[in-house]
Amino acid sequence: MGVKALLVTVLLTAAVGYYMYTPLPDAIQEPWKLMMVDAGIRTAMHLASLKHWLGLDHSMMSFRQSLEGLESTVKRLVSSESSGRVIPGVKISDITFAGIPVRVYEPPAGGEGHLRRGMMYFHGGGWALGSGKKGAQDAVNRMVSDELNTVVVSVEYRLYPEVLFPVPYLDCLAAAKHFLSPAILAKYSIDPERLVVAGDSAGGNLAAAVAQEISVDESVAVKFSVQALIYPALQALDFNTPSFLQNQHMPILPRHTMVQFWLQYLGADLSLLPQLIVNNHSASQNSGITSELRSRIDWTTLLPQKFKKNYKPVVVEKGSQEILKKVPGFLDVRAAPLFAGPEVLAKCPRAYILTCEFDVLRDDGLMYARRLQDAGVSVTSEHYEEGFHGSFSFIFWPVDFDVGKRSLRAYINWLQNNL
Ligand SMILES: *[C@@H]1O[C@H](CO)[C@@H](O)[C@H](O)[C@H]1NC(C)=O
Repeated sequence: MGVKALLVTVLLTAAVGYYMYTPLPDAIQEPWKLMMVDAGIRTAMHLASLKHWLGLDHSMMSFRQSLEGLESTVKRLVSSESSGRVIPGVKISDITFAGIPVRVYEPPAGGEGHLRRGMMYFHGGGWALGSGKKGAQDAVNRMVSDELNTVVVSVEYRLYPEVLFPVPYLDCLAAAKHFLSPAILAKYSIDPERLVVAGDSAGGNLAAAVAQEISVDESVAVKFSVQALIYPALQALDFNTPSFLQNQHMPILPRHTMVQFWLQYLGADLSLLPQLIVNNHSASQNSGITSELRSRIDWTTLLPQKFKKNYKPVVVEKGSQEILKKVPGFLDVRAAPLFAGPEVLAKCPRAYILTCEFDVLRDDGLMYARRLQDAGVSVTSEHYEEGFHGSFSFIFWPVDFDVGKRSLRAYINWLQNNL
């Protein structure tokens, strides 16, 4: 090799290494694997921005396509049969519930005479990405259906940029009401006493919001008996909770990405992002936020000391009064279920809440667990010290993490014993 070629190789290797390298906390096991996943996602995002800049496509849509491309490439490299993703006995039907596309998973054991559990699942992806029919999500739903003798209904609610809040929420609510109707429960031989609503990330947000609405809606006779929330997003007023600060640069969900997802979902201008990062939208002089409302998301009183660490609340005095006026979704309990009053929470189903230490959304989940408990609801709060956002879905080689597999097992065990 000539000196020039050697130099180019060294520089290229250094550039790739630099691009891939992300400093990670010591507690993260298999850090290089997480860096590779992160680099893959960042590449998809950069390609999407480039296409958007060239005027070819909306960046979120091409990001979605790039991610799906990445996933199917990985899948082609790995024979999916060998990893046991397909469970032959589970029957799959792609149909609609109240006009909303859903995928129904029916367990192998026949329904005749004996009733099965029922689960409604909302997938994650920042209200803009993902699908319950793909990848780990689909595999987990098959597993739950098979192992827990459960009819799982995964909802393909509409996404940004095609729709904005409240449409994804309303899609999920309509599908849930249809699911809970006596005719559907009878059709699928589902026990009306054993129904769970579940979701991860943005799907956890939708599951919490739908659980609240169903709980207080007197026209719905059969209710969910359990809610299972996997690192849910529950509020958008404080982007300086200890977890948002501690994990602001953590893959795969850095703080600016989560804030961007919220802005998109709520139909706000993306140029507001720097204001939101410094909590300018929730300034103390903002007359739109009552002290009662503020207390419902006040991490200084709702979090155990262990999680507060040495962080200080970020409350600006003046900020911008305009943002909440222009974007009412920020204060809407259907978007931010952590705002619900104790009278609503008291009616909510028993909860399983999974949180991860290295996740901007950790404190959203922990605060909700505490508020539900204070309202008298029984809560299992499962916290993963080595967990990071998305780890629940990283269960298959080559992107399998021990913490992901352990948390999935614990979730299934909990449902086995509590649903
Ligand atoms: C936040 O609001 C203050 C006014 O209270 C303003 O001076 C500041 O520039 C704003 N910060 C950002 C990042 O926009």
